[in-house]
Amino acid sequence: MNTTVRKIPSQSSWQRIPFRSLTLIALLASVACTAKAPPDSVWGPQIQPTADPQLETRIQSILERMSLEQKVGQIIQAEIQHATPEDVQRYGLGSVLNGGGSFPGLDRRAALDRWRELAGAYRKASRQPMQEGLPSIPVLWGTDAVHGHSNVFGATLFPHNIGLGATRNSELVRAIAQATAKDVRATGIDWNFAPTIAVARDLRWGRTYESFSSDPDLVTRLGEAAILGLQGNPEDDWLGSGRVLATAKHFVGDGGTRDGVDQGDTRLPEDQLAAIHGRPYRAAMEAGAQTVMASFSSWNGQKMHGHHYLLTEVLKNTLGFDGFVIGDWNGHGQIPGCTVTDCLQALEAGVDMFMVPEDWRELRATLLEHARHGRLATDRLDDAVRRILRVKLRAGLFDRAADEIESTSAQLDRHAELARQAVRESLVLLKNDGGLLPLSPNQRIAVVGDGADDIGKQSGGWTLDWQGVTGTNESFPNGQSIYDGIAKQVHEAGGRAHLGEAGLADFSPDVIIAVFGENPYAEGQGDLETLEFQPGSRKDLDMLDRLAGLKVPVVTVFLSGRPLWVNPHLNRSNAFLAAWLPGTEGGGVADVLLTDTSGQTRHDATGRLPFPWPAGPVPDADGHFPALFEIGFGLSYEDRQDLPVLPEDGMSPRIDASIVKDEVVVFDGYARQPWQLVLVETASGALIEADGQIARTSETGGVVITPTDRHLQGDARRVRWLDSAGDAIALVTDAPADLHALSQMGARLTFDLRLESTAPHPLSLVVDCDPSCRATVALGDALQPLAIGQWHRLGIELACFQAAGADLTRIRRVFELSAGDRAEFSLADVRIEPPARPATDVECPD
Ligand code: BGC
Ligand code: BGC
Repeated sequence: MNTTVRKIPSQSSWQRIPFRSLTLIALLASVACTAKAPPDSVWGPQIQPTADPQLETRIQSILERMSLEQKVGQIIQAEIQHATPEDVQRYGLGSVLNGGGSFPGLDRRAALDRWRELAGAYRKASRQPMQEGLPSIPVLWGTDAVHGHSNVFGATLFPHNIGLGATRNSELVRAIAQATAKDVRATGIDWNFAPTIAVARDLRWGRTYESFSSDPDLVTRLGEAAILGLQGNPEDDWLGSGRVLATAKHFVGDGGTRDGVDQGDTRLPEDQLAAIHGRPYRAAMEAGAQTVMASFSSWNGQKMHGHHYLLTEVLKNTLGFDGFVIGDWNGHGQIPGCTVTDCLQALEAGVDMFMVPEDWRELRATLLEHARHGRLATDRLDDAVRRILRVKLRAGLFDRAADEIESTSAQLDRHAELARQAVRESLVLLKNDGGLLPLSPNQRIAVVGDGADDIGKQSGGWTLDWQGVTGTNESFPNGQSIYDGIAKQVHEAGGRAHLGEAGLADFSPDVIIAVFGENPYAEGQGDLETLEFQPGSRKDLDMLDRLAGLKVPVVTVFLSGRPLWVNPHLNRSNAFLAAWLPGTEGGGVADVLLTDTSGQTRHDATGRLPFPWPAGPVPDADGHFPALFEIGFGLSYEDRQDLPVLPEDGMSPRIDASIVKDEVVVFDGYARQPWQLVLVETASGALIEADGQIARTSETGGVVITPTDRHLQGDARRVRWLDSAGDAIALVTDAPADLHALSQMGARLTFDLRLESTAPHPLSLVVDCDPSCRATVALGDALQPLAIGQWHRLGIELACFQAAGADLTRIRRVFELSAGDRAEFSLADVRIEPPARPATDVECPD
């Protein structure tokens, strides 16, 4: 078997190993040998990690002084909203994370100092021994800085990985990762859950934009660059100042699931799993990635979090991974036989640290219980702890002063120029009929579409929030929208710029740039059934049709997390640029679209497709999407090739939203179009948007809503009423919905509810169109018998609301819940559905 040696600093050789380390090495070897290495396999030759005896001695001496409780604490990672610095000290927790949309003090505008204070508080707490005589072990904080330090207000956000894939520029990716690492360190955080080295194969997957490409070679090259940029080069500046630990994620096959279903099943023979999805991991190991995150997905039906063969034999033994495996968000709880709070299987399979954001106390208790009854293998626990200590030592955490974060000054750097370069290089030109682009800035240019002036939309998911619901451009004090970037250059060149469709004809443009595309999403919320853009809604197509009336050329700038079937939009555009999710530096788009004042191209269109572009919305009989443009396609400005008119068959019919005849999903983790989740301030009547995966409080402080989990992350909301002012949460729509037909079919309003405290009286559910036709149903009695802490499905016939005075033909609020007193419960899955599914019926008021 050939052996490649992994490059790790401190070039120690076996000859120089001091005698007293030999026992330790024997011990390590015995642990490593408990799982047999796969045959010189489809995963390639075995990689032998270079041992560093001094480091191993240090690890051993710490381990020997640790108590069982401390070891168990080390393999747990809790979320910052659910574990205080005191908890870290008291339970010796190994790690904390902030989920997307979780900030110090839940303040999405938290200043840099707040992050640093909190990081400092955790660090200091962890440096106090859990108990007399036990070693102090620094805590590690992990974050998702997946396109820049994306949870931090004011940070520069880079294009998502899909855009970086289009640049194909590994030097650039490395520089971006390094810049991101600096920002992460500036907040006192030492660990980034990036890069995603998924090889997305089915564009319907909601995480496609986190993937560099469907080509394993390109993912391998860029993934390696990202790891080197984050951690530094193993040979010289490794994990020094301004560097953070990287995470290769999600091991393995996350991008290969059937039909692109998030957290789904990757069905492939092992050689293909290794060749497609495993390839980037070998390079990641060689680049020294210190942590690997297990995938939520399964391989041939078996959950990765419980996959001993892949986690231990392949990753640790064959690929020589000596860092630690972090689980994904409660991912262990999905293993059959496990729950979030009780799961030895994940540890046994090779997960070294549990990401158990909320319920870590309970998991800790069951782990200790198993240990006391001899069910938790000590050598496996020790191996996990050793790995965690190894990574913490390599990262230099033990060698930093406890007050290191406070004693160094820091700021978030502006990386605008670097990000802007990335934007420029990521743009892929798909159509340029008659050589329309680049445009002279010295003319009348109109910029229209809902993506024209929306930095949140151009940044996508994982932006200041998990799902990327960011509010207004004020959420980006340093950012530039695509319109702003264009307008600035046009004005400087003496041209005129106009924003939006209002007043467009009067402006009399020479050319129109239409910016539109997908709204932000993350993970499974972005999964699609077909690749059609806006199925059933012709919103942007209608806009293009209106623009055609002006008889001037139209350039489309398409914002999306993936290639989509847009033949109708391509046909209605003279030029078409795929811009992916460029991030905060919208000016990079103008750099490519516009010439200099003398008409010279400044930046050619150099981006090339990282994924094939689909020719139709649905797969063919073999399950493949035929390509309109192959991977690698992209026009340059010299290319003179017009695009013929493309077939438009396959377009879904326009949905008439006004009359609802089928089941309606109103809320299943986020409010579905056209519904919106809001807080209602009863005194003022004001509505506060509450759709995002972040906590919201009404101005009066009467009601607080926070995301929580039922089946999936963030698919539920916990609502707490703090006073009797009667503030409410509601699901509302601007365009009235006609639910009459549904009601005649006996449809009910159904929802999942979990009481977190005793059911309050009074509690009422309202449906209304406007104040004149509100209908209230009291829920109090129906809730009294329900067990606290358990989910129940409740249903109320729509006819009840009609009887109580609602006009079901014009409903604007389908669900408004208010409590007249302190109360707390969680809610999920709100629907209007035919009476097929079982639910506890709430009786109609007489
Ligand atoms: C995602 C991971 C992420 C983690 C922590 C999970 O939902 O799958 O990619 O690192 O959350 O936010
Ligand atoms: C994400 C968080 C999100 C949570 C919802 C996690 O995976 O990282 O950002 O708030 O899921 O439960």
